[in-house]
Amino acid sequence: MEQSRALPTEVDLSRPSAARVYDYFLGGAHNFEVDRQLAEQIAAMTPNLADTMRAGRAFLRRAVAELTRLGVDQYLDIGSGIPTVGNVHEVAQGINPQARIVYVDIDPVAVAHSRSILEDNPLTAVIQADVRDPAHILAEARDTGLLDFTKPVGVLLAGVVHFVPDSDEPDRLMATLRAAVPPGSYLVISHSTFEDQPQEMLDAQKLSARTATEITLRSKAQVSAFFGDFELLEPGIVHMPLWRPDSPGDVDDRPERFGAFGGVGRKPAAG
Ligand SMILES: C[S@@+](CC[C@H](N)C(=O)[O-])C[C@H]1O[C@@H](n2cnc3c(N)ncnc32)[C@H](O)[C@@H]1O
Repeated sequence: MEQSRALPTEVDLSRPSAARVYDYFLGGAHNFEVDRQLAEQIAAMTPNLADTMRAGRAFLRRAVAELTRLGVDQYLDIGSGIPTVGNVHEVAQGINPQARIVYVDIDPVAVAHSRSILEDNPLTAVIQADVRDPAHILAEARDTGLLDFTKPVGVLLAGVVHFVPDSDEPDRLMATLRAAVPPGSYLVISHSTFEDQPQEMLDAQKLSARTATEITLRSKAQVSAFFGDFELLEPGIVHMPLWRPDSPGDVDDRPERFGAFGGVGRKPAAG
């Protein structure tokens, strides 16, 4: 990556970052040697992983397109990463040019690049924050003036809750986010799993401990619990390529090889 003049001083170039490793897998240019080395090491162990990253982004795209068609016009995208290819605002605003998006990521490089890419898009904002502090995220999101929490919001948590270890109480942060949005809001989650996975995938997970954020693989039942009482859209929580594929030909014969579940839930009317 070219040395960006705008690179924030808190960027630690000696340690790989999950966002930059992910960017490398997606074919982006916002990564450093230390990220590429780790990415190559992971890729050598799990040749599927680049496909997994792309399948994750494709799931997110399909979910956002679906929700935008259903009338959702505001999104809180937590763990948004580096806006590499086909980002949420492109998908949502491609369908509804008035759609507003607040991006949130913990990684200063992801945030700096997001800001520079989005500076001409007044319906978007970027916040640097930690998903483990949802109250802070919600307060900052409100402060942007872009999101109206009295109207349905699409809360996106694609490939991020697996960075929250059990000791940081992911169930609690999910409950806070679910409670903050009104009925008719949606939750989109994709999350890595150990279910149906070969040993090399489980070994790659151990390598993630070298990034600032280690991955916790979870079961389908654990991912289901993150939706609380939200009603799951068909087909429920499934291996990502199986969630409303654009065409049946987009699903190969082993969709479990992508190693992550995806699902979308809708907040029911208050009972
Ligand atoms: C695998 S990428 C997913 C990017 C995007 N959501 C997608 O699905 O294409 C995960 C992102 O989560 C971010 N992340 C990791 N831990 C986080 C935390 N505690 N709070 C906020 N973001 C976090 C990383 O910096 C990275 O950009």
